[in-house]
Amino acid sequence: MTQASPTAPAWRGIAAEEAEEISGKLGTLLRRRSRRLLNDLLRPNRKLAVTVFLLIVVAQFAALVGPWLVGVGIDRIPQLETTHNAGPMALIIVAFAVAVIAQAWATRAYIAGIGRLGGRVVIELRRRLFAHFQVLPVAFHERYTSGRVISRQVSDIDSISDLFDEGLAALVSSLLSLVLVGGGMLLLDWQLALVVMAGFIPLTWLSAWFRRESAVAYRRTRETIAQVIVQFVETFGGIRAVQAFRREDRNEEIFDALNQANADANLRSQRLLAIFFPGVTLVGNLAIGAVLLYGGDRVIDHQMKIGVLVTFLLYLQRFFDPLIDLSQFYSSFQSAGAALEKISGVLDEAPSVPEPEHPRALPAVPGEGGGREVRFDQVRFGYRKTTVLPDLRLTIPAGQTLALVGATGAGKTTIARLLARLYDPLEGSVRLDDTDLRELSEKTLRHEVVLITQENFLFSGSIADNIELGKPGASREEVVAAATAIGAHGFISALPGGYDEDVGKAGGRLSAGQRQLISFARAFLAAPAVLVLDEATSLLDIPSERLVQEALTRILTGRTAVIIAHRLSTVAIADRVLVLERGQIIEDGTPAELLASEGEYSALHASWQESLA
Ligand SMILES: Nc1ncnc2c1ncn2[C@@H]1O[C@H](COP(=O)(O)OP(=O)(O)OP(=O)(O)O)[C@@H](O)[C@H]1O
Ligand SMILES: [Mg+2]
Repeated sequence: MTQASPTAPAWRGIAAEEAEEISGKLGTLLRRRSRRLLNDLLRPNRKLAVTVFLLIVVAQFAALVGPWLVGVGIDRIPQLETTHNAGPMALIIVAFAVAVIAQAWATRAYIAGIGRLGGRVVIELRRRLFAHFQVLPVAFHERYTSGRVISRQVSDIDSISDLFDEGLAALVSSLLSLVLVGGGMLLLDWQLALVVMAGFIPLTWLSAWFRRESAVAYRRTRETIAQVIVQFVETFGGIRAVQAFRREDRNEEIFDALNQANADANLRSQRLLAIFFPGVTLVGNLAIGAVLLYGGDRVIDHQMKIGVLVTFLLYLQRFFDPLIDLSQFYSSFQSAGAALEKISGVLDEAPSVPEPEHPRALPAVPGEGGGREVRFDQVRFGYRKTTVLPDLRLTIPAGQTLALVGATGAGKTTIARLLARLYDPLEGSVRLDDTDLRELSEKTLRHEVVLITQENFLFSGSIADNIELGKPGASREEVVAAATAIGAHGFISALPGGYDEDVGKAGGRLSAGQRQLISFARAFLAAPAVLVLDEATSLLDIPSERLVQEALTRILTGRTAVIIAHRLSTVAIADRVLVLERGQIIEDGTPAELLASEGEYSALHASWQESLA
């Protein structure tokens, strides 16, 4: 197998992480935090769970009574011949009917009950996961990748749902059946029961072997399917690049290898089943032979009634089947256990940009045209090991429009993210009117600081809905006013549905620039104290940029703003320009001052002018 060569390190890492998450959980079915989560989920449904359990007990008892009555009935037949009294026999038949009807009823009721229980647990679990994933910070999502988020929400929840649908009832009823039938046989004839139990010696060995081997095989199938999924996600997430670089054949090769590895792993699991099932059946059938042989002997010696022998033979069927069920569902228990463990791991993940326990309120913005003062106070920040901003000290007075320029990778976006508190500084603080961002509630922060990036995201819904996000509950007049102010009214009214056009439908028809304008209108409506634009105008063509330029000046008045732009035309409207190099401020002044100083900015400006000519 040429496994190692075609693997790209990126997805190998992810697959390994996924695999690591499920390894080590194979011996123990449930770890403490998984048990805590399961208890937590079952607690509100305790009544239903207990009812289901009792119904299973009823069904199993009823199932035990049937064969016993058959045995009793058979032993009654000779008496029937001599006494001609059909009464006791009729009673037995009625009792038998009651038992089998009770069994059918209780089984129906517990299967329905367990379905209801599973449904409730799954709904609650999915709700919690979704809510939690949403509040986990961007840093978590960068590390965790969307493929894994999807896999938690879909396949892990499916495993748990499967457990409820088939596994759990099978587990409880199989265990009960083993205990009850075993006990019943011991009571009826302990010697013969011991003969049956002797069959357990090979079966225990066979089951242990099967569990051990299937654990390994199961892990292999999980690992390989994780790799297949990652390859899928990578290919289609980057489909443009794949086609642009003609990587289809290579990808197909990689995919084929992974797909084959997964098929091999599945085949191995199947081979194990192919040995295990017939093995158990064989032992069960040998036990039938032994019971007939030894039991027949005891009947002839008048040490046992023939009815008891029949009961035994009927019980035998119910005795070995649970072992098959238990082993068959072993992998479904395992996958549900592993799924629960992974989900509880995510739910235990704390937001790294936590909400303050006692949020502070900001003072009202002093007067019109205020904005708020922004201060980076000795901020040190880096994403992982490398430091991006070694020691940023920067005060932006209220109402100032600051332009950030600098080479790619200088740290401009990083500053924008810190200001919107997508990350917290490692050292120092980012302050808004002298209040640390960490002391503000999420709601206040989102109201005060709005970050617009190039990847302006439109949510499903109408265009009006998308603009209204800036100020929930805004009237249609306000929405239209915002769009008009930003210069988006023209193209929106030209759409067939106007403001009510669905962005999903319009999505394909909206240009990148038009989407940008919608997100501008959203920000305009939000009217934050601090506005951060990261390359926000770079997707606009020159005429619409000019349009937006005017709109920009309008949005920017009355608030503090940070604009990051490669196009220096945008920078010209700033009050102040900062030139950033490797996380450090190397120039700071008004556009005119910097132009005159013949530094980095004037060099940038000169080459930009040249590019226009
Ligand atoms: N999410 C991230 N995880 C790890 N490193 C990152 C992350 N984002 C940025 N970096 C690194 O931080 C440094 C600064 O990146 P940043 O995005 O702030 O630069 P920038 O000035 O906005 O560049 P550009 O002009 O290309 O947008 C770069 O070295 C980059 O590799
Ligand atoms: Mg950037």
